[in-house]
This record gives sequence, C-alpha cells and structure tokens, in this order.
Amino acid sequence: MLVVVTERPDTNDSQALAPSLSEITLTIPPSIRSDKNVRQLAFYEDLVGHLRDQPLNVLEVGVFHGGSTLLLAGYFPTSRILAVDIQEPPLVFYDELRERELTDRVKVVMVSQADAAGLQGTIESFFGSQQLDLIIDDASHLYSQTRATFDIVFGQYVKPGGIYVIEDWGCGYWPLWDDGHPDGRHGLPKLIKELIDLVALPNRTMSFDGPQSLLGSPGQPSPISRAMITNGISAFVRSEAPMPEPTIASKVPAWFNRRVARREITRFARTVRKRLSERLRQAREQLTEVPEAHVVCTLAAHVRYRRRVRSL
Ligand SMILES: C[S@@+](CC[C@H](N)C(=O)[O-])C[C@H]1O[C@@H](n2cnc3c(N)ncnc32)[C@H](O)[C@@H]1O
Repeated sequence: MLVVVTERPDTNDSQALAPSLSEITLTIPPSIRSDKNVRQLAFYEDLVGHLRDQPLNVLEVGVFHGGSTLLLAGYFPTSRILAVDIQEPPLVFYDELRERELTDRVKVVMVSQADAAGLQGTIESFFGSQQLDLIIDDASHLYSQTRATFDIVFGQYVKPGGIYVIEDWGCGYWPLWDDGHPDGRHGLPKLIKELIDLVALPNRTMSFDGPQSLLGSPGQPSPISRAMITNGISAFVRSEAPMPEPTIASKVPAWFNRRVARREITRFARTVRKRLSERLRQAREQLTEVPEAHVVCTLAAHVRYRRRVRSL
C-alpha cells in the first residue's frame, strides 16, 4: 500500500498565507489599479515583506487613481497610511476605501510634495508625534520637488531604520522628461547619486552640494545606512542611532588608555620641568633675569599635569 504524506501548511505562519502584492492587485477594480509593474512589486516584497504584520506608519506621495494606496492597505493590514497628491483621485477609489472599511486608517490629502509647510502640517495632524516607517515617493519624479520632500520628510519624520522609496527615478534619463537628460546628471538620477554620496559621507573631507539639511559637521556618521537600487525603484534606509566612528582610544581597553595617558602626561611634565631648569641655568650663566611670570606659569603647568596623572 502506498501512503502519501503531504505537509500541512503551517497555519501559524501568517506571512506564508497572506496574499502577495500581485494577488492583492487583482482584487482592485481595473480602472483604478496601480501602474506598478511586476519587477517593482517583487522589489517591494523583498524590501518590506518581513514587516507586513507590523503596525507601520506609511506615507505615500503620489496616489493617482488610488490603486497603490489600496495595495498598501491590503499588504499591511494593521498600518496607518497617509496618501497625498495634488489632484483628487476618482470617486470609485473612495467607494473602495469605504467598502474595505479602510477609512479609519487611510487618509487622503490634497497637498503638493513641494509645499514644505503643507506637508509638515498634514503629516503631523495624521501621525502626531509618531515617526514614519515607510515612505513611497511616486509623485512628480522631478528633482526639485522630490528633493524638497526628501529634505523635509527624511530629516524630520523617518524613524531610525525607516525606509524611504523613490520610484521611477529612471524618468530622469529621458530627453523629453521635464528635467531629464540621457547623461544621468540631471533630474532624479542626480538626486539618487547625491543620496548614494550620503551613504559614504562619514569620513568626507570634500564639499558636498547634496541635501544639506541632512548633514552635520564633517566626520559625523551618515544619515543613510543602506541604499538599494534597481531599474525604476530605489530605497534608502535611515541610519539607526548614530554610531561614532571608533577612535584609536576607544579601540583599546580602558586600562591600556589610562596607562598610555599617564605615560604621556608624565613625559610632558618632565619636559616642562627640564625646560624650566634649562632656562634657569642659562639665566645663572648669563646673569640675566628669568621673568617671574614665566617661572610661575611653567610651574603651574607642571603641577597641573602631575595632578592629572594622579587622577587617572
Ligand atoms: C505615477 S502617479 C502615482 C501612481 C500611484 N502611486 C500608483 O502606483 O498607481 C503620479 C501622481 O503624482 C501626482 N503628483 C505630481 N506632482 C505632484 C506634486 N507636486 N505633489 C503631489 N503629487 C504630485 C500626480 O497627480 C499623480 O497622481
């Protein structure tokens, strides 16, 4: 007798059973479906698939007909989503929001991505003081506007470890695109390059004309810990708590530091003493006077260094 044992799906593994982005797309009325292609959907599955059970705060910039907003709401069932655009999506989208009982956790607001104050007010009135986990900019695809949004949102609202996606950056290679050029030095390719520069900034010494709002002083850790880029979509991860570059002093054990410091200071104190006695000897030989202030200062420095040695 042949017994076939098939493995039951693990019903606790909600991720394995949850519908994929492509499956959710098919539930959305064709007239308002997202224009995201299969490559982009696969990129998202890799990028944020592990987060789908978490109560994420999501900002979508660029709604169009609303298909992508419904897609996000279906993929992240406990998320709160703020979706902004300069034009109103069609009524059928709002019908879908109601039918899917999403009106509590999805809000759509008409505001331009380049309107700093409007965007800040909209974000703060929906999310309060909570920070954002995921931002998807699929709006103008123009350098100045996309950069304006990045400057405001990434710097102020993205939580450490949060992900900032910029879609369709390849538009900037099209000669007919408003700020496009095939040389890849204009439009969104220029912005993507600037953000890649930010990844490597910790040890920068050169001047940098990218998003200044993200920069501290030279030598500070980068605000972007990771960049993932493919044709048509890019993602940047905000650095976790700033990690100072290890200095030589912090690489060695504390007892070693103390011993080195004590030796250095003792050596310096000895040099100071030697210099003073040399000066006194010369003065005796030449019968000149050593200024009193000089003697006092030198002795004071010597005492200070001795004290520091003892305090270590
Ligand atoms: C490519 S569509 C968005 C597509 C949608 N995310 C999807 O996947 O189906 C671009 C949208 O960005 C909007 N948009 C263009 N410029 C904008 C701006 N300055 N601020 C906000 N939205 C803008 C357009 O109105 C349009 O609806």
